[in-house]
Amino acid sequence: MLSDNLTLLLAIAAGVLCVLGLQGLSHPKTARRGNLCAMGGMGLAVLLAFAHPAMSAYSWVLAGLAVGAAVGIPLARKTSLTSLPQLVAVFHSLVGLAAALVALGMYLQKHAFGLMEPKLAVEIGLGAAIGLITLTGSILAALKLQGVVSGKPWGWWGRHYLNLGLGLGTLACVAWFTLTFSPVALALIFMMSLMLGWTLVAPIGGADMPVVVSMLNSYSGWAAAATGFAVESPLLIMVGALVGVSGAILSYVMCHAMQRSFISVILGGFGTVESSSSADNAAPAKAAALAGTDDVAYQLAEAERVIIVPGYGMAVAQAQHAVKALTGQLLARGVEVRFAIHPVAGRMPGHMNVLLAEADIPYDLVEELEDVNPRFAEADVVLILGANDVVNPSAQTDKNSPIFGMPVLEAWHAKRVYVVKRSHRPGYAGIENPLFTLPNAALVLGDAKEIVEKIGTALKAT
Ligand code: TAP
Repeated sequence: MLSDNLTLLLAIAAGVLCVLGLQGLSHPKTARRGNLCAMGGMGLAVLLAFAHPAMSAYSWVLAGLAVGAAVGIPLARKTSLTSLPQLVAVFHSLVGLAAALVALGMYLQKHAFGLMEPKLAVEIGLGAAIGLITLTGSILAALKLQGVVSGKPWGWWGRHYLNLGLGLGTLACVAWFTLTFSPVALALIFMMSLMLGWTLVAPIGGADMPVVVSMLNSYSGWAAAATGFAVESPLLIMVGALVGVSGAILSYVMCHAMQRSFISVILGGFGTVESSSSADNAAPAKAAALAGTDDVAYQLAEAERVIIVPGYGMAVAQAQHAVKALTGQLLARGVEVRFAIHPVAGRMPGHMNVLLAEADIPYDLVEELEDVNPRFAEADVVLILGANDVVNPSAQTDKNSPIFGMPVLEAWHAKRVYVVKRSHRPGYAGIENPLFTLPNAALVLGDAKEIVEKIGTALKAT
C-alpha cells in the first residue's frame, strides 16, 4: 500500500502530465508527445485509484474495464475523422453518467450510515445535476451530428422559459437537498437535469453542434470536479477542472472564429435570430464558370505562387495524400506553395492540420488565416479543395448573411481561383457563395481526390 505522501506526490505528477498533455496539443509538432503525456497521466491516475485503501471490488472494476475496452477500442478504430465530434459527444455522455452514478452511490452509502452533511450534499447535488445535463445533452448532440435527429433548431417560443424554469428548479432542489438530504429532492434533481440537458441542446442548430460538444466537454469536467470533492479525490478535482476550463476556452475560441455569440450558444441559443439566409433572399445565382483539370494544370505550370485552401470536402474525399503528391510536383518545379488554414475549416478544431500532418505535408508550408490573407493578392493560383463557407466573401459584404462578420480566407484577391467540389450545392451554412461566380473564379466539379490526381497527371504532361 502506498503512503499518503507518495500517493499525493504521484497524483500531482499525474496532474502535471495532463497539463503537459494540453500544452503539447497546442501545436501539430508536439501534439503526439502531448497525447502520450496525457495518456501517461491518466494511466497513472487509474493505477492510483487501484492502489486506494478503500478499493476492494477489483473483479467488478476489471470486468467494467474489459467491457469498456471491448466496445470502445473497435468503435474508436472504425470511426472516421469526420465522425469524431459525435464519438467525442458519446464519450462525454459516459463521463456525465459516471459522475451522476458516483454521486448517487455516495448518497446511498453516506445516508445509510447517517453520515450526510451539507457540504457533501452540495457536492452530490451539483455533481449529479451537471453530470446528467451532460448525459442527455451529449446524447442529443451526437444524434444531431449523426443525422439521426434533425439538426434544425427547436424553435418553440417558450423554450427559454422552460430552460430557465428547469435551471432554477434544479438549483432550488440542490438547496432543498442540502438542507434536508431528502431522497425526493435528489430524485427531482435527477429528473430535472435529465430534461434540462435535452432542452438546452434542442434549440441549438446543427451548425453550432461542434461548439456544443466542446461546451459539454467543459460540463463533463465540472461534473467530474464536483464528484472529486464528494469522494475527496484531489486528482479528480484537478483533472476535472482542467477539462472544464480547457473545454470552456475551446468553446469560446470556436464561437469567436465562427462569429457566434458564446453566451447565446451556452444558454441554448438564447437571442439567436432566425436569420433569413442570403440564399433565401438572393436573386437566382449567376452561373459559375466551369474549368477542367487540364486548365488547372496549365495555370499551375505557369504559376510562381500557389495557395491551397483545404476544407471539409478534402476530409470527405480523403484527398490529403493526393494533395501531398501534387504539392511535391509543384515544389519540384520551383513553385512557391502555401496552405491556408481557416480555424473552423472542416468540422472540428484543427481538422485540416490533422489531415495535412497525416499526409506529412511540411508545417512550414501551412499558414493561419491572419498570416495568409495578405498573401492572396500575390498568388497566381488559389486551389480551393472542398472549402466553401470559409472562403465566402459575403461574410464581409452581405449584412444579411448568417455568416456576416466571420473572418474568412480572402481567396478572391488571387489572379485565378479554382474551386474543387462535386456540385453547385452550398456549404455547411447553407448559403450561396458569390466567390464562385467572380470573373477570376471557376468550379472544377468532381470528388477532390480524383480531381487532384487528375491535375497531377495533367501537370506531369505539361
Ligand atoms: P463547408 O462550408 O461545409 O463546405 C464544404 C464543401 O465541400 C461543400 O461545399 C461540398 O460541396 C464540398 N465537398 C464535400 N465532399 C466533397 C468531396 N468528396 N470532394 C469535393 N468537394 C466536396 O466547409 P468549410 O469551408 O470547411 O467550412 C466549415 C463549415 O463548418 C463552416 O461553416 C464552419 O462554421 C462549420 N463548422 C466548423 C466547425 C469546426 S470547429 N471546424 C465547427 C462547427 C461548424 P459539394 O457537396 O458540392 O461537393
